[in-house]
This record gives sequence, structure tokens and C-alpha cells, in this order.
Amino acid sequence: MRKKIVAGNWKMNMTYQEAEDLMEGIVEKLCGIEDLDTEIVICPPYPYLEMAIDYSANVDEDDMVVEEYFSVGAQNCAAYEKGAYTGEVSAEMLDSMDVTHCIIGHSERRKYFGDTDEVLSEKLKQAIVHNLIPIFCVGEVLEEREADKHFDVIRNQMNVLFQLEKEDFMKCIVAYEPVWAIGTGKTATPEQAEEIHAFIRSLIAEKYGKDVAEMTHILYGGSCNAKNASTLFAQPDVDGGLIGGASLKIDDFVSICQQASK
Ligand code: PGA
Repeated sequence: MRKKIVAGNWKMNMTYQEAEDLMEGIVEKLCGIEDLDTEIVICPPYPYLEMAIDYSANVDEDDMVVEEYFSVGAQNCAAYEKGAYTGEVSAEMLDSMDVTHCIIGHSERRKYFGDTDEVLSEKLKQAIVHNLIPIFCVGEVLEEREADKHFDVIRNQMNVLFQLEKEDFMKCIVAYEPVWAIGTGKTATPEQAEEIHAFIRSLIAEKYGKDVAEMTHILYGGSCNAKNASTLFAQPDVDGGLIGGASLKIDDFVSICQQASK
């Protein structure tokens, strides 16, 4: 049985102080919940990663982790190893500061920052080489769905991930995020989500075998919130969520984490 994962994608939001308040509030709430069976990943902007890591676990005087509340992920990484790439942040840097996850291929990166399949393929390689768990996003735009092309689009996007060797693919998390649902308040129905999730799992089975497909986490993202999370998460192939807007609200985010817990 796959344990559910809830990842918060803060995008380019929050001042430092607001981010600290949000983090503090989330940890405070999480501390009060017993037996929470959800893996939580928080992906704040780069400048707040270190703060997030400080909040992510309760450590004793010897710096030993007493309790871990969540893992910390980045929202992006460079396609290059190191060097003269002003403004970029490498996977190696992230790994060296104990960041564990990295979102790769978010539709906003594809749309606004030229993250083509070739670029994403390089970013994936960097993430894998430097021990980051990629959260690889796929999803169709509205016109593609209306033209009934969504399955082809998802298949093509998944082919980037399928360039990985099996052992490396097994480290990845997939996120299905229909672009028409991101930040629009227009969530995919549980049936629409399940249909694509099951399709993605069948592609994985075709490529790497049934066992790999069964262990791969496929998250849903796109206007997932405290009101609709539980019905989405109840679908057999939906293994949690990648949460944007609702991850910026303490109560909503913690509620989503609880709804993912069995
Ligand atoms: P949203 O964003 O929850 O605000 O729709 C999801 C995402 O882009 O990851």
C-alpha cells in the first residue's frame, strides 16, 4: 500500500516573515495530531529553504532528530552542474543543504521559463545525480483536453521520465496537474483524475513493469483544497496531492494532510 504524500508548492509567495509564520503555524498544528500517516513535503522559495529545514524537525541538544514533521523540497533546479550561470541554483547546492525533493517540469516553468523536454531531461539528471527526489509534473492545457489529446500529451511528457534507468525512475514521484485546474478553482473531478492517474500507471507498467508501477506515487495537483481533497485521495490511483494555493493557509494545508492520512 502506497503511503500518501502531500506536497505544498508555495510558488513565488510570502515575505520572509510571512513564511516563518506559516511554517510555525503548520508545525504547531502538526504537533497536535496523533498518528498522522502522511508524508509531507514543503517546497518554499529558495531563500526560505534553510528556515524550512530548521522547522522541519524537532532536534535534541546533540542535533539528533527526535521527530520529523516534513521534508523540504525546492521548486526547481538548474539544468547544469555548476559554474557561470548567474542566478541559477544547482541540484548539488540543494543536496548540500539537506533539501530532499525537487519539483521538475511544473507547467509554470514550462510556460514562462522555457523548460522544454530537453531542459527537463537535464534537470532530472542533475536531481538524480545529487540525491534529490524529483516531483515530475505532467498535465494538459484546456485546448488539448477539449481536442481529446490529453492522453497523447501525458504520454509524451512521461517519455521524458522514461529516459531514466529503472533504478532512477523508482526514485521519482509523478504529479498529474491539468493546467486548466491550476490556480483556477476548477478542480478535475475525481473520475477525471483517476482516469489519467490509472493511465500514467499503465504507461509505467508498460515501460518498467507492474511492480514499479505499483510502487510509484502519482500525486494530483490543480485546485486541490480542504474541501475536495478526501474525494480525490479516495481514488485508487491518486496517492496524494501537490498543493499550491491551499498550502499557503495553515488550517487548509494541515487539513489536507489529515485527509490523506488513513
Ligand atoms: P493550485 O496549484 O493548488 O493553486 O491549483 C497547484 C500547483 O500548481 O502545484
